[in-house]
Amino acid sequence: MNPPRNINFRRASFTAAVITMASAIAGCASDGPYPLDTLSPKSDLTRAILSLFKEVTILDSLVLVVVIVAMVGAIFIYSSREGDPGEPSAMHSDVTLEMLWTVIPAVILVAITVPTVHTIIRTQPDKWPADTLEVKVIAHQWWWEFKYPSLGVQTADEVHIPSGRSIHFAMTSEDVIHSFFMPSIGGKRDVIPGQENQITLVADTPGEYYGQCTEFCGTSHANMRFRVFVDTPAAFDQWVAHQNETPVRPTDGPAAAGAKIWADAPCAICHTIKGVSGFSKDYTYGFRGPDLTHFGSRGTMAGSMLENTPENVALWIKNPEAVKPGANMPTLGLDDEELSNLVAYLESLK
Ligand code: CUA
Repeated sequence: MNPPRNINFRRASFTAAVITMASAIAGCASDGPYPLDTLSPKSDLTRAILSLFKEVTILDSLVLVVVIVAMVGAIFIYSSREGDPGEPSAMHSDVTLEMLWTVIPAVILVAITVPTVHTIIRTQPDKWPADTLEVKVIAHQWWWEFKYPSLGVQTADEVHIPSGRSIHFAMTSEDVIHSFFMPSIGGKRDVIPGQENQITLVADTPGEYYGQCTEFCGTSHANMRFRVFVDTPAAFDQWVAHQNETPVRPTDGPAAAGAKIWADAPCAICHTIKGVSGFSKDYTYGFRGPDLTHFGSRGTMAGSMLENTPENVALWIKNPEAVKPGANMPTLGLDDEELSNLVAYLESLK
């Protein structure tokens, strides 16, 4: 007999259980400052996924309770007691029991599979509503390109979608396998070279949401982020109209000097600025890096890692390797004045 040890064990178990539950509840707090929170759904797809998650969690919890009650009950009921004779009797086979512990798990699996498959079919149909907006997602090491074929718009690292309208993301990769993950808006999909994967959804709450590549894709995998802007339909139309404008060409000051540097430096080999340096149809130049036509109007840069400020743009151009290890962006070797002029030009591209 050693009662104090039992009490300590019980107390430790209770404390562990309380800490685990408290952490779980803290981790589940929605609408908190957790940018990659999967429990704050803002689209029909993520709401369906969350509701499925809740159903399965409730079912699993019931199974857990039944198993624990049966186990603890068995321990108390069948423990050997003082005066019991020697070894317990061995049981060889019991057809009823074996049937039971085969059939019950099978029923549990069916109860999980049916709503799961139903949710997949319901949220990802083969046909989309007529007014569905297609957004092509092209993954690159290490940034995201977004194209709107029906609108003639392309952008990088920041994707805008209208609320209340069906959006079809068609995604592929230019290089290695990436994964497109925007937790509040659209689950997760692998993005694979030579293949087009899809997500269809209707976002319902205007706002700014975080995205992240979630498949290890090389040195700067963790730096491959993006933002999703769910706009009201009117704000989205306004954004599209603005994206279709050619930015005003600066005529004097640092920005004009920067435009000259842009023309002389090798920037246009990889980047496009509409109306200034073109994107070649045969894919020989202008497409390796993000389209910069409206760079100045974006809130973030460099795989959405940094706020788009003149200081950060300068930091990036001066030494891309230090900001995003492994990046293909070369060091241009500009002096301080050239650098600040080039930054002024890029920031003028509103
Ligand atoms: Cu792209 Cu990880």
